[in-house]
Order: sequence, then structure tokens, then C-alpha cells
Amino acid sequence: MSDVYIIGAGETKFGELWERSLRELAVEAGLKAVENAGIYSRDVQILYGSNSLAGIINGQENIGALISDFSGIAENHIPAIRIEASTASGGAAVRQAQLAIKSGEYDVVMVGGVEKMTDVYGSEILDLTSSVLDREWEAFFGATPAALAAITARKYMTDFNVDKEALAMISVNDHLNASKNPDAQYKNKITVEQAMSSTPVAEPLNLMDCSPITDGAAAIILASEKYVKKNKIDGVKIRSSADAQDYLAVHSRKSIYSLESTRLAGRLALEKAGLKLDDISFVELHDSYSIYGLLELEELGFADHGHAKDLVQDEIKLNGRIPVNPSGGLKAKGNPFGATGVGQFVEAYRQLKNKCGERQVKGAEYAMLHSMAGTGAMSVVHIVGGQ
Ligand code: COA
Repeated sequence: MSDVYIIGAGETKFGELWERSLRELAVEAGLKAVENAGIYSRDVQILYGSNSLAGIINGQENIGALISDFSGIAENHIPAIRIEASTASGGAAVRQAQLAIKSGEYDVVMVGGVEKMTDVYGSEILDLTSSVLDREWEAFFGATPAALAAITARKYMTDFNVDKEALAMISVNDHLNASKNPDAQYKNKITVEQAMSSTPVAEPLNLMDCSPITDGAAAIILASEKYVKKNKIDGVKIRSSADAQDYLAVHSRKSIYSLESTRLAGRLALEKAGLKLDDISFVELHDSYSIYGLLELEELGFADHGHAKDLVQDEIKLNGRIPVNPSGGLKAKGNPFGATGVGQFVEAYRQLKNKCGERQVKGAEYAMLHSMAGTGAMSVVHIVGGQ
């Protein structure tokens, strides 16, 4: 099977982009990726569109056809397919795209992720984002993603004697890194005190523990080894890719704070890559809530259960032992569901090409990218970089 390389990447700014439509965002990111790859749109043989909620937020389904039409590639008649896996859509779409290349069917594939979330009222978006949960057993009874993250945080903090400051440090680190990322939604640095005294959302979580509602798009171009060699392209290798599923409803899982899908996908990705955790230069985590940042560090093996708190003071910083979210993460770069996971690849591509300026992780060789659906129903982990 062919190795797969990222040969181009592009994204829009993430944020409240009221003047831009869903299709405009998708096309901007796609064109940036094509231009960055130095190819023509007609070279793309299949398009995977990653999107989660456009059907219910924007009343627009058939996202693959929409992007293909509006970006002017419909005349090429290539397949354009939407991949939906809630907030893990981006990671899932990249996984399917690289499998399509490995199958030998395609040499050049585009993955474009997009979400336009800020065009509806706050109360409405709360209900719409709750559709990534189990509607009948969770959302119907009033559970929202924030409420479930809060219950999870409460139990974890009690069982492992973790204080709120440890959660806040995840967000402080995200905001610090985002202050160096021109594409990020929130570029303001925050202190632990500011994070802990921000508006309560769902006790013990405050505003600064929550990822925001975001518009944005991101795209990457993947290519086969044959294509890369023939065209002498210096791509970034996708070293491994793995995914795993868990129960949809939190109450069915092993425990309220176990993220089994993350643990399994992470372990499998490392195994397939033939690497050890020590080889990873930085990790992009799906920290939709600060509590998940801590739990994911543990499930991915960077700390024992209850001990991610020992990493948050120094080790997760850009110059620390395991830099976390150089992009600014979901908390501060933003979380436009379908674009979030693809955006992680954009960051990794730029980091591994040493193009991230002030937020560059020095000597970055391997990146671990973690995409998670909702409260953990599915996770996709990729490792990129190396020869
Ligand atoms: N972090 C930092 N600032 C935020 C923010 C966040 N997460 N969310 C909103 N803000 C800011 C806004 O920019 C705005 O600032 P301004 O007054 O200077 O313009 C202010 O807070 C109020 O914004 P508003 O949009 O009215 O906030 P809200 O109260 O409607 O929404 C949340 C806040 C936390 C409820 C919302 O962001 C949310 O639901 N986030 C979680 C999304 C989610 O669940 N994702 C994962 C699903 S699995």
C-alpha cells in the first residue's frame, strides 16, 4: 500500500464570520490548499467534505456537491462526498481520504472541512450542538455537552483530588498559543485567575473552560507516494491513522470520565506508526472542554489517571516536554465542528515545515492529532511526520 503525504494545506480565519457564507468559507480554504500544494483544481480526483451540522444549522445538506459546484470543479465530475462523525468529522474524513489513496484508486485527494455555526441564537445553537449526544437518553432530559462535561469534571476532580486550577491551565495554554496564531478566534492571553473567575456556564466549568461557537473552514491535499515522487514534492507523511468507537451515551460507558475511544485509537496509532510516546514532538488535542484536555492527556498515555495536573504548569507549553495545542486548540483557535479536525492537519503541516513563527515547536518531527466526537463516542488519532 502506498504511503500518503500531505502536500498542501489552507484554512480561513476561525471566528464569528457573519459576512461569509458556508460555501464561501469552504471554497476559500480549498483554494488556499490547492495553491499551497502547487497543483491545479483539476488534479484533484475525489473530494471528502467534512461537516457535522449544516443540515440543521444552515438547512444545507449535500455538502460535497455544494463545495464541488461552488468551487468550479463540478465540471470535472469527480466524486464529492460528505463525511459526518460529529466533532470528529475532520479526523474521520482524513482517515477515509488516506484509505482511498492506500487502496490504489486515487493519487490526489482533497479533504475540506467547514462549519458555519454563529448564524443562530445562543439558545438554539445549544440545542443543535446537543444533537451530537444521545438525543433520546441525554439531550431530551436537558443534558447539553457543557452539562455532561461539567458532571464529568466534578466526578474526576473529586475522585483524583484535582483542583479547578488544573483545568484552567489547559485554557491558559490554549489562549497563549492562540495569541500567536493569526487564524485563531480568540487571540487574547488569559491568566489562571481570569479563567477561574469568568462567567459560570455549568458548575464547575466557566466560560474559559468551554470551546466557543465558531465559523471556519480548513482543507488539505493528500497525495500518494507515486505522485509525490513523480512531481518531486516535499510532502509531510501521514505516518499512521486509527479510530475507535465507544457508547454514544455517557451513562453506558466504563466510567463517566473514561474516554475509551481515545485510549484505543491513540494506542493503535502509535503501534501502527512504530513509535513511542517520547517520539511525539507535540499533540493537538480535542479539548472542547478543559476537562477533556486533562482526560485526553491521560488516555493517550502522557500521564497516569488523575495526574495530567502534573503536566499543566510547564510540560504542555510550547517549549515543554509535550507541547499541547500549538494552534491554540479548540478553546482558543475555535471549534467549527467539521473544520476542527482538518484544521489540526493544517497546523501540523505548517509546524512540520517549520512555518509557524512565534508558535513554532522547535525541532518538531512527529505530531499526534486527536479528533473526538462529542463527549467521546468516537476518536480518530493520526500521527504525521518523519520519513
Ligand atoms: N471563550 C471565550 N469567550 C467566549 C466564549 C468562549 N468559549 N464564548 C463566547 N465568548 C465571548 C463572546 O466573544 C462574547 O464576547 P463580547 O461580549 O466581547 O463580544 C461574549 O463571550 C458573549 O458571547 P455569546 O455568544 O453571547 O456567548 P454565549 O453565552 O451565548 O455562549 C457558551 C457561551 C460557552 C455557552 C458557548 O460558547 C458554547 O455553548 N460553547 C460550547 C460549544 C460546545 O459545546 N462545543 C462542543 C460540542 S461537543
